[in-house]
Order: sequence, then C-alpha cells, then structure tokens
Amino acid sequence: MRIGSLTLTSNLFLSPLAGYTNLPFRLVVREIGGVGLCTTDLVNARSLLEKNPKAFKLVETHPSDSPLAIQLFGSVPEEMRDAAQMLEARGAAAVDINMGCPVRKVCNVGGGSAMMTGLNKTAALVRGMVSAVKIPVTAKMRLGWDDQNITAPDLARALEDAGVAAIFVHGRTRQQGFGGTVNLMGIRKVVAAVKQVPVIGNGDIITPSAAKKMFDETGCAGVSIGRGAFYNPWIFQHTLYYLKNTSPAPRETSGAKEKNLAAPADVKLLPEPSFAERIRVMCRHLDLMIEVFGESLGCRMFRKVAPWYSRRFGPCHEFNKRVVQISTRAEFHNVLEHYIHWRRQFLDDQGELLPRFQPSPMIASFMRAEPAVVQREQVSVPKGPVEVW
Ligand SMILES: Cc1cc2nc3c(=O)[nH]c(=O)nc-3n(C[C@H](O)[C@H](O)[C@H](O)COP(=O)(O)O)c2cc1C
Repeated sequence: MRIGSLTLTSNLFLSPLAGYTNLPFRLVVREIGGVGLCTTDLVNARSLLEKNPKAFKLVETHPSDSPLAIQLFGSVPEEMRDAAQMLEARGAAAVDINMGCPVRKVCNVGGGSAMMTGLNKTAALVRGMVSAVKIPVTAKMRLGWDDQNITAPDLARALEDAGVAAIFVHGRTRQQGFGGTVNLMGIRKVVAAVKQVPVIGNGDIITPSAAKKMFDETGCAGVSIGRGAFYNPWIFQHTLYYLKNTSPAPRETSGAKEKNLAAPADVKLLPEPSFAERIRVMCRHLDLMIEVFGESLGCRMFRKVAPWYSRRFGPCHEFNKRVVQISTRAEFHNVLEHYIHWRRQFLDDQGELLPRFQPSPMIASFMRAEPAVVQREQVSVPKGPVEVW
C-alpha cells in the first residue's frame, strides 16, 4: 500500500506504545516480518528542537529499522513544523501527529486529544507541517472525546484537506480509555468521511481473524496493532499470511446487519509459535535491549517486557516473580533455565503443555460473538501512562 510518496510492503502497522515500541522491540517485530511501517513512541517536538538527549533516544533508529515513522506531539505550529523538518533531515520515512494522547499535561497545552476539539486550529497546524516537508505527514486519533462528541469523521475530512497522507484511528473515545468494545462502525464512518486518504483502523487486534474483521467491516486500508504485537510479535507475519489465504468476507451494506460476520470457514492460520521459538525471540529481544540501552538499564527495562512473552508460556508465575529482579543478562538466563526446568511438570510426553495448562484463546472485544470460544483472555493494558491512552 502507499502512504503519500511511501510504498509499504504490507498494510499492517505497529502502533506506538510509549515505553515499549522502542528500537529493540521494533527490530524484533521486523525480524519476524509482516509489518509494513513501525512508529516510534510519541516524542515532544519542542524537546527535539532543544536537542534533549532523552528525546533523541526515543527517535534512535538503525538501517534495519525501516521504514520508520516518528510520532510527534505538540501544539505550537512552528515547533511541529521545525521538528518535522528536523526528522526529515534525519531520514524519517514519515511523521505522525499524536491527536489521541489524553494526558492532561499534553492536552492542557492543546496537544494530543485536545487537537480533536479545535478543527480549524489543528488543520492549520497540519497544513504548516505538510508544506514544510516532502515525507508523508499522518495523524493518529481516537473516535472523539466521548460518545456525545464523535469528531473523528469531521477531523479526518479536515485533515485530508490539509494534506495528511493517512489517518490512524483507534476505535474508542478518549472517555472510554481501554474499556468497552472497539467501535468498528465508528471507524467505518471515518473511512466514509474521507475522499481517498487511507484510513488505518486500530484497537484490540490480537488475532489474524480480528484484523480481518476490522478490514471487512470498516473498509479500512490498513490495520495498526499495538498491544497485540506485544503479546505476540508474530502477529504481523501470521495476519499477513491469513489475509492472503482467506477470501474476503462479503461486504454488508446495512450497518444493522454487520454484527455477526464471523471469520470465514476456510481459515488458514500459521501454527502458533512453539515454546522454543518464543524463548528464542524473547532472548533476542533482551540482547537488543542490552545493545541499545546498556546491560543494566536494558535488563531493568526488560523486567516489564518479559512477562508479556510469558503470558503465552502456560503456567508462568515462577518465571514472572524472578524475572522482575534481573539486572544482568546472566541473571536472566539463570531465571530462564530454572523456569524451563520447573515448567516440565506441566508437559506431556511429547514436551507439549497438557491441555489444562494451555493459555486461554485470545479474543478481541469486537469478536465476542464468536460461538466457538468459551474461555477468553481480555487484552491487558501494559503499565505506563495507560489510563490516559
Ligand atoms: C502503554 C501504552 C502506551 C501508548 N503510547 C502511545 C503513544 O505514544 N502514541 C499514541 O498515539 N498512542 C499510544 N498508545 C495507544 C496505542 O497506540 C493504540 O492506539 C491503543 O493501544 C489501541 O490499540 P491496541 O489495542 O492494538 O493496543 C499507547 C497505548 C498504551 C497501552
């Protein structure tokens, strides 16, 4: 697919997750494959212009971390414009504008979600950025402030007129936080509101069939995955495969009929990654964290990352309680070795988890009508500025 002048190898995107979608994680996802474009955590435009080392660390990249969009937040048009120019000069493939961040500190100065409330002002800011750079400028938003103020369709239209190359929309309102269901009809209204700019749907995609459902029911041009990639960095590869191997679901014309479009019967899924593969990728992730952040900080940061991998290991409390204490690579490997030994009690003769210890199937908020699923795991929200996203 294309985003302005940028041609992408897939229409699957990694959503920014502040504190998590750093260079090591992006490289992990890219090495597995299937992702078309990754985006950095949000970074303050002014901090970049002031050459703040923390801001520069957030935009740190590597030749194999490409194509990369950098997400900016800010509300001062000149700062956003100058930061976009700076990023273009540093080789960014695209600049994304955060219009979804509800952190008070960001909104009080007119950035993040507050941008969804002042269409003219926001469009003028965007226009200034678009005319200052050649790379695509994109915007990421929620559906609106709350159910009474669903502004995304109007905003998307105004932003298209201002020259954005793509619109990312998380199908929840700011007020919803991460609760309730992702509103596919809401995303569809954004798709319908624009003339031709690609709209990328986002929210709760944790399985390939959830991605497909979002495509089929919203008509979006791409989907963006955040927490689902953290659970499962293989999700892009698996989703791409699934989308290529399943026929498109028939498009419904009436909104009222849309509720129960289940995944098609001829489902072709790649097998779930084995335990050994999960361990391999987790170790690679730690090695990259150490390379990018140094052993001490890299290991401390990895304390909150490793438990995301272990969610799919089966019983894992023995791993989780120890991994949150690691300070060195050697300590991590000790924890892992101990855990692998401890986990044997839950395995059958072939070394597979006994059925009663297998993790529950994952299911997106908007897939809950699926009859086959009895047990399901909700999408957790990682520690961080979470209540505010
Ligand atoms: C811990 C955390 C950090 C986030 N950081 C950002 C961010 O920096 N910029 C942004 O636009 N959205 C951010 N988000 C929102 C996600 O990009 C995404 O829109 C949201 O998580 C829904 O998608 P998902 O269900 O695939 O995770 C964050 C979400 C979480 C949970």
